[in-house]
Amino acid sequence: MTQSFRITLLPGDGIGPEIMAVAVEVLKLVGSQLDLQFEFQSAPMGGVAIDETGSPLPEATLAACRQSDAVLLAAIGGYKWDTLPRHLRPETGLLGLRAGLGLFANLRPATILPQLIDASSLKREVVEGVDIMVVRELTGGIYFGEPKGIFTAETGEQRGVNTMAYTTSEIDRIGRVAFETAQKRGGRLCSVDKANVLEVSQLWRDRITALAPDYPDVELSHLYVDNAAMQLVRWPKQFDTIVTGNLFGDILSDAAAMLTGSIGMLPSASLGADGPGVFEPVHGSAPDIAGQDKANPLAQVLSAAMMLRYGLNQPEAADRIETAVLLVLDQGYRTGDIMAEGMTPVGCKAMGEALLKALG
Ligand code: IPM
Ligand code: MG
Repeated sequence: MTQSFRITLLPGDGIGPEIMAVAVEVLKLVGSQLDLQFEFQSAPMGGVAIDETGSPLPEATLAACRQSDAVLLAAIGGYKWDTLPRHLRPETGLLGLRAGLGLFANLRPATILPQLIDASSLKREVVEGVDIMVVRELTGGIYFGEPKGIFTAETGEQRGVNTMAYTTSEIDRIGRVAFETAQKRGGRLCSVDKANVLEVSQLWRDRITALAPDYPDVELSHLYVDNAAMQLVRWPKQFDTIVTGNLFGDILSDAAAMLTGSIGMLPSASLGADGPGVFEPVHGSAPDIAGQDKANPLAQVLSAAMMLRYGLNQPEAADRIETAVLLVLDQGYRTGDIMAEGMTPVGCKAMGEALLKALG
């Protein structure tokens, strides 16, 4: 029997529409092979939505996302909107989407593909075999804590304020996702905080430690965030699953991504307690190469695979897509960001065609 899924597409800005087009073709083909039907609907978000409606996340877009089985997002933002007031910035739309859908768990894998080892800025022996999952808390911490704002102090000086805060329930729910993720992977979980200085981190560490007895098959360790940053570039193979708060996760997931050589290769999943998840590449909208058929669509395609695996429970379809990505790399196809000597340079569209061929 054909299974049917409603997918909201948020192509966004910059290279977003180009890479999204490739992912949609790939999904259609895999769907036809495995009797899965996708009903796609596109909605504006980010800069394009600001231009069309005056808001980076129109109500209708959020409503469409809520009513779907999963949301596939490409990338948002660009120079054009960088100088707008904060509430009108594309990034504010993204934060609104995360909050609006309750997406508290952000899974960011950093896996080095053997075909791309030389694209890493680190030595081969340091990165070979790296396979890390960063579990980042996404709807709390300093990104959302109150009070926040720029106020006038008693001295008449301006004072900028944000608040890093976590409640026990917020820590526990992301902690459980992280332990469960570690169980399905290498069985090691490293919790990252700044408990030597911050009270919020002390609570974080206490709660994560308190969860550990429920997961006897997971080996738990703790690192301070500065040390974790150092260890990530010193010997990344020591990590399996990392769990951390919103801001530390933002920073460490970029560092982890770069170990793999190309941020253009990495997908991510943002999940809530129930309802649709949002699946998107880790990279941004790359306005400098937008519309030139130069973008690497593979992170978008791998995000579609994560959507199938984590959002729609279709592991076979996800496997097929991931295998096709490895195959086109084995065949030597490379976009500019991962180009190496002796390889075949291709643009975004040609990479998409190669993928479709690889899927058979
Ligand atoms: C990310 C981005 C966002 C964040 C920005 C664009 C709001 O850097 O997804 O990592 O800080 O979370
Ligand atoms: Mg970031």
